[in-house]
Amino acid sequence: MKLLGIETSCDETAAAVWLEDRLTSNIVASQEVHQKYGGVVPELASRAHVQLILPTVQKALKEAEIEKEHLDGIAVTFGPGLAGSLLVGLNFAKAMALALDIPIIGVNHIEGHIFSNSVLGEGPPPPFIALIISGGHTQLVLVHEWGKYEILGKTRDDAVGEAFDKAAKMLELSYPGGPAVDKLAATGDPEYLDFPKGRIKDSELDFSYSGLKTAVLYHLQSLSPEERERSKADVAASFQKAAIEILIENSLKALEKYQIDQLALAGGVACNSLLRNRLKEESEKHGFKLFTPPLNLCTDNAAMIVRAGRFYLERGERSEFSLSPVPSLRLDSED
Ligand code: KG4
Ligand code: ZN
Repeated sequence: MKLLGIETSCDETAAAVWLEDRLTSNIVASQEVHQKYGGVVPELASRAHVQLILPTVQKALKEAEIEKEHLDGIAVTFGPGLAGSLLVGLNFAKAMALALDIPIIGVNHIEGHIFSNSVLGEGPPPPFIALIISGGHTQLVLVHEWGKYEILGKTRDDAVGEAFDKAAKMLELSYPGGPAVDKLAATGDPEYLDFPKGRIKDSELDFSYSGLKTAVLYHLQSLSPEERERSKADVAASFQKAAIEILIENSLKALEKYQIDQLALAGGVACNSLLRNRLKEESEKHGFKLFTPPLNLCTDNAAMIVRAGRFYLERGERSEFSLSPVPSLRLDSED
């Protein structure tokens, strides 16, 4: 199948092309307009998607050396995400598919992240556990089979990527904060401070990041401007250690509890170097297989969307043209 994928759920305008058995282009236009605000401004994101969607799709088709008339279908993210942003991608996909008389398939963005492990290679065959960690999500998911997901644990408050972004803001680093904290932490002492790890007493696989965020804030407030400047890298390293250790702890518990021997990472925080190194060590120690997508497939992209869409289109599924964005779309049906 020759497929186009479109992703506009947050602040990346992305398009990718899948030809038969491989990815042939993967274009991501990151919106720079949000940088000066230190976070995504939804209205600006929608406007930027409107400006970027056509050139991004054209670039993806050109790089894949395919005319749009030869496409067999379009996969597009329909949730979760920002309503206005989702609407731009979904409407664009519908208009294009109607004009070309081809099907569309709506893709759940989180499911797309899980498929990011299966874009360049085979990826893990289900059952496996996915640790989905991004700016909006922190979830441990048991993938029984493709399309059948059980959420084993999730954050009670902030997502881990959000915690990285907030910590970066407090440390006066650039946005998005994750890569900046990761880089600065490499030069700091992770043992400088013992920040709270965010364990939840009554639910062993859930996460919480609000206490960690507050602890970083209070600590920085207790320092003089000179001390703050001097200990920035140490605070970043100690914060990162606390934020990452709970992800590792809960992943190991989940693998053990459900007797699964494959762990797949997904989402922007899966780029984190400490997490990748620590999990590699743990996988060698405990003998489970670790799947880590390449860095450009961890953060938001359309390659994972077209890969997920291909799975459903090949099974003969398609979405109605009445499909609407679902900003709070879930992976499972339970609450
Ligand atoms: O998956 P993604 O691109 O978008 C969402 O769906 O949210 O994830 C973006 C998040 C941001 O919070 C960013 O700070 C974080 O991923 N991130 C990182 C790293 N690279 C990106 N967090 C920690 N370490 C990194 N190296
Ligand atoms: Zn994402």
